[in-house]
Amino acid sequence: MEGIDFPSMHSRPELFEFEGIPMVHYFTDNWENVRNFKARPDDILIATYPKAGTTWVSYMLDLLYFGNTAPERQTSLPIYMRVPFLESAFPVIPTGVELADNLPTTPRLIKTHLPVQLVPKSFWEQNCRVVYIARNAKDIAVSYFHFDRMNMGQPEPGDWSTFLKNYMDGKSLYGPWYDHVCGYWEKKKTYSNIHYMLFEDMVEDTGREVERLCSFLGLSTPSEEKERIVKSVHFDSMKQNNMTNYSDVKALDFKISPFMRKGKVGDWKNHFTVAQNEQFDELYKQKMKNTTLQFRTEV
Ligand code: A3P
Repeated sequence: MEGIDFPSMHSRPELFEFEGIPMVHYFTDNWENVRNFKARPDDILIATYPKAGTTWVSYMLDLLYFGNTAPERQTSLPIYMRVPFLESAFPVIPTGVELADNLPTTPRLIKTHLPVQLVPKSFWEQNCRVVYIARNAKDIAVSYFHFDRMNMGQPEPGDWSTFLKNYMDGKSLYGPWYDHVCGYWEKKKTYSNIHYMLFEDMVEDTGREVERLCSFLGLSTPSEEKERIVKSVHFDSMKQNNMTNYSDVKALDFKISPFMRKGKVGDWKNHFTVAQNEQFDELYKQKMKNTTLQFRTEV
C-alpha cells in the first residue's frame, strides 16, 4: 500500500464554486461518475460535514459488519480503502467510485461529505440507509483549521482568524456548516432511513451510540462483541492503530498536527477569543433560528 500522495505537495488546490458549493478539483474531477453512481439497496452511506467524526463511525460500522468475518482486513487495509470516499479522485489510489464498485464485501460502506442536495440520486431511489454524523460548529471550526494546516490536499487555511472568518462566511470546502447539518435534518422528514448521530453524544457514551446504531441497522450483535468494539474505537486505540490513523497518507504532515488530534468536545474554548465567540454566537442565532436541531458545545 503506497498511501495517498499528491503530485505537487507544495501547491494546494484552490477553492472554486461548484453547484453552488465551494469545492476543490479532487472532489469534482470524477463528477459524472459520482452523479451516476449506482447505489445498491443494502449500501450504507456515511455522510458528514468534514471533521464531524467520519472516521470514528466508519470504523464502528466496519467492525460491526466485518470485525469477525474478515480479520485480515483489520490488519492490512486502511480504513480509507475499506470505506471508499465517494466523490474523491486523488492521484495514486483509485477514485472513490472505482473503489466502491470493486468492494468485495456486502454491505458496502461508503463515505461522503456532499451536502444532501448533491448526494447521487440512486441512494435515495434504492432507499439506502444513511448514517449522518453532526458535530457542533465551533469544534468543527477548530478541527477543520488544524486539518487544513496539515493536509496538503486541502486549500490553504491562513491563520486562525482568517480561517474562522471564511468558515463563518460559508467559504470553506463543502460550504456552510449550517446548510449541511440542517439539510440532512430536514431530509429526515421525508426520508426515514437516516440515522442522525451527534459527535457529542458519542463522546458522552460511545456504548449507547453503538447500541442505537445497531437498532437502526437491524443488527443483533452480541453484547461482548459490542463491548470489544467500544474499546477498539476508543480515541487512544484508533490513534495507535495504523489502519485508522492515516499514518501512511503522504499528503498529511503529522509534524504540523496529527489526524487523530484531540477527539474532545469543547476544544474551541482554547482557540476562540471572547470577541470571536460573541460574533460567532450572533451569526449562529440567525442561521439556526428556523431549525429544531440543537448542539452541545460542552458535555
Ligand atoms: P479533533 O481534530 O477535534 O481531534 P473526521 O474523521 O470526520 O475527519 O473527524 C476527525 C475528528 O474526529 C478529529 O477531531 C478526530 O480526533 C476525531 N476523532 C476521530 N476518531 C475519534 C475517536 N475514536 N474518539 C473521539 N474523537 C475521534
